[in-house]
Amino acid sequence: MRIELISLGHVYPTGDEALKGVDLVIEGTEPVAIIGQNGAGKTTLVKHFNGILRPTSGQVLINGEDINNRSTAQWSRDVGYVFQNPDDQIFLETIRKEFEFGPKQIGMPEEKIKEQMDFVSELCLLKDKLDLHPFDLTLTEKKFCTIGSIIMMDPKVIIFDEPTCGQDVEGNKRLKNIVKTLQDMGKLCITISHDMKFVVENFRHVIVMCKGKVLLDGDSKEVFSQVDKLKQSFVSPPPITRVAQKAGFKETVFNIDEFMREFDNRKEK
Ligand SMILES: Nc1ncnc2c1ncn2[C@@H]1O[C@H](COP(=O)(O)OP(=O)(O)OP(=O)(O)O)[C@@H](O)[C@H]1O
Ligand SMILES: [Mg+2]
Repeated sequence: MRIELISLGHVYPTGDEALKGVDLVIEGTEPVAIIGQNGAGKTTLVKHFNGILRPTSGQVLINGEDINNRSTAQWSRDVGYVFQNPDDQIFLETIRKEFEFGPKQIGMPEEKIKEQMDFVSELCLLKDKLDLHPFDLTLTEKKFCTIGSIIMMDPKVIIFDEPTCGQDVEGNKRLKNIVKTLQDMGKLCITISHDMKFVVENFRHVIVMCKGKVLLDGDSKEVFSQVDKLKQSFVSPPPITRVAQKAGFKETVFNIDEFMREFDNRKEK
């Protein structure tokens, strides 16, 4: 799948100009992380990828087709968006019903729905929770319920909006496995996150948003080496990366092994 944005602008009816001419191409199956401070326009941006929001200027092309050619319901078969706040998405009495809703709407055959239910409930570790009411779930479980409901529809592109928010270590592991599994299945996974450690551990393609524009877009090492530009966007690299930068390491490091390798290289010089 190829998502192409041409001078995309979005002004909300309130007059807030959330996107100020974004040019961007995302394609292939390499997972993509979108980062940037609160209010940078991340959610507004990704809501254009399946037409939940429509451009107020510029264009969104999905595999070359203008987003305005189809309804959001039609695009959602190809591009699934998991809401930032689970309460904006969950509306049925059990996880099972939440999981079945989307696939039934798009006319997925019963047999395939059953297969998907097994696969997704296993992947999201919700197998023994399927008949619980969402009110009885923890925030983490609610998040995985919303993630699962979108994966159930088997879209080619899956967008997670702040899935790491409020997650513990175990939740992040579960997410890591989901991102990896989706990639292995040939899906394109786009994730908004404020958790830089999670970002560098799981995403090689990183896009930094700042004040309604794309500030940086590229390989994670390239992006996190641009200290001055990152400061403009109020994004801080992960702690270990910052320590290495402060110590004057030339290479951008993301973990202890990389840190020690650079450290030893310097000693040898
Ligand atoms: N429904 C709305 N109506 C009016 N303005 C909005 C609406 N949603 C967002 N905005 C404004 O658009 C700008 C971008 O918001 P957006 O939610 O896209 O940012 P974000 O990067 O996702 O932030 P966060 O990290 O807090 O989720 C902000 O100034 C915000 O106040
Ligand atoms: Mg947001």
